Amino acid sequence: MSYNNILLEVHDQILTVTINRPKQLNALNTETISELSLVIKEAQENADVKVIVLTGSGDKAFVAGADIKEFAGFTIDQGKALSAEGHNKLFNAVEECSKPIIAAVNGFALGGGLELAMSCHMRVASTNAKMGLPEVSLGVIPGYGGTQRLPQLVGKGKANELIFTAQMIGADEALSLGLVNYSVAPEELMDKCFEIAKKIKNNSSSAISCAIKAVNAQFKEGEDGFEEEIKQFGNCFATDDFKEGTSAFMERRKADFK
Ligand code: CAA
Repeated sequence: MSYNNILLEVHDQILTVTINRPKQLNALNTETISELSLVIKEAQENADVKVIVLTGSGDKAFVAGADIKEFAGFTIDQGKALSAEGHNKLFNAVEECSKPIIAAVNGFALGGGLELAMSCHMRVASTNAKMGLPEVSLGVIPGYGGTQRLPQLVGKGKANELIFTAQMIGADEALSLGLVNYSVAPEELMDKCFEIAKKIKNNSSSAISCAIKAVNAQFKEGEDGFEEEIKQFGNCFATDDFKEGTSAFMERRKADFK
């Protein structure tokens, strides 16, 4: 399938998804959100894909936010619908994706852009990245999960500071806050993401998808993370990967997960 705003490339079971609206600094309009949501759905059904790397086209931006031009004239109800649709269609789907998604933050990650990166399971930033939630400078608040996921990652006090001041931070500060996993030179960004992806893909995909559910449960209203861990731990025992992983250990060989 081809998309208007997304480029796809699979290599060695790693799918690279590139948001491709460089003239608008890859801002997320509704079409791009719909396309991305479809890409995530299809990637989960595609047995050739084990890990996803998400990035932005060009060397200036990961994603500069939701498309401001699209929502500038919205009413209360339209604003709510925009936010709810984003949560349901894309941002929660990214967080709950059964395959790990690594955000390769290659420039501005602002507003909805940082919110998208924060929905991913981990983030690697290039040293030219600038991250922030500038929404209050536009008279709105983060609407794609930023008020929830930023405090989860960096703590409430620092999240409040970043949201209230609307300030941007660089990759090294983001690293020191735990907002990103690594800060690397721009030319090393994709290689660093692929290096992590390769380590992940040698492990059991079914176990990783169970781990994603268990880790996410900690942050879900009404869910008990420990109970979810017990459930997912049990579920692993019915998988071929569990048989292969434990047999390989006892036979002193490397596991070969299908
Ligand atoms: N929406 C729509 N268009 C955007 C955009 C956005 N979020 N960010 C950049 N663009 C467009 C600009 O309008 C410009 O297009 P034109 O050439 O047609 O005018 C083009 O991308 C290049 O941008 P600039 O000329 O502004 O580039 P710059 O280098 O001078 O500045 C920037 C870069 C600091 C990132 C600046 O573009 C900027 O501040 N962008 C907006 C960032 C922002 O506020 N993001 C939050 C959006 S609100 C949100 O995301 C809500 C939510 O949570 C749901």
